[in-house]
Amino acid sequence: MTFHQTPKVPLDTAEHPITAYLTRLLDEVSKQNDGAVADYIPELAKADPEDLAIAITTVDGQTYAVGTVDREFTIQSVSKPFMYGYALREHGLERVLKQVGVEPTGDPFNSIVLNNENNRPFNPMVNAGAIATSELLIGATREEKIAAQMDLYEGFAGRKLSVDQAVYASESETGNRNRAIAYMMLNSGMIEGPTEAVLDLYFRQCSILVNPIDLSVMAATLAAHGRNPLTGRVMLTPGQTSDVLSVMATCGMYDYAGQWMFDVGLPAKSGVAGSVVAVIPGQLGIAVYSPKLDAVGNSVRGIQVCKRISDDLGLHAY
Ligand code: DON
Repeated sequence: MTFHQTPKVPLDTAEHPITAYLTRLLDEVSKQNDGAVADYIPELAKADPEDLAIAITTVDGQTYAVGTVDREFTIQSVSKPFMYGYALREHGLERVLKQVGVEPTGDPFNSIVLNNENNRPFNPMVNAGAIATSELLIGATREEKIAAQMDLYEGFAGRKLSVDQAVYASESETGNRNRAIAYMMLNSGMIEGPTEAVLDLYFRQCSILVNPIDLSVMAATLAAHGRNPLTGRVMLTPGQTSDVLSVMATCGMYDYAGQWMFDVGLPAKSGVAGSVVAVIPGQLGIAVYSPKLDAVGNSVRGIQVCKRISDDLGLHAY
């Protein structure tokens, strides 16, 4: 496949009304100072709390971006919907449903509770479901699974990506709650193991480095029904994309998912490094990066930006 470099914001959009609108929004939102950078993974605490970027990519591949658009950060839980898409693509819905459901939890992202009826993780957006989904990476060796993992994210982003080794090590060293979740799933037959190998893939997945424009392209690929608007590569079928977006809509923002849907009305996903992506199917993908998080683990300014864009452009689905 051909990799494209992350697109630079086209010069002729400098005065574009969308860029002008995003610049105004960025100025307003930068006055919001609530929240705190995640520190439960020590490496994440090193983020600059003042970073703020907004990027929009349309389904025809035009990108508009303002703020700290070159900053790279780890993808964290924003990786989860894409890995779920991979699982659907490679294994089919019936098989995937045996290992992970599609019900919202109303619980925090690191909840250790599995569904009482069948011990299945509730959905692929919380850690339990994402760890179970990581086990579905195909490959005879660790290297082959890692290659499949990178190919997935690079395919969505449309460029070569790398892993933040320091965050990866930090996740792995401190991820004992995720270990507890994984061993509980091993105990109940939801993963086969070896458990440390599954966790290793999950920690690595969370530690992939992206910038705000990458995330907007990834979101735009979902908006374009699974086809990357920059490279033309088909990552998912429209049906698989619809399944991914449905789970993002109901479960993407954890125990804030209901309020998010009520206020913003778009399928979305957040990550603890401070990014939020939202998708307007058939139109565009939005990505916001601002590392200060609220108590639930969502970017404070990220939520504010998405709310404003949804209101200003009338994007609420209902
Ligand atoms: O499992 C973890 O702790 C992280 N690596 C991913 C968590 C995450 O981004 C949750 N999102 N808000």
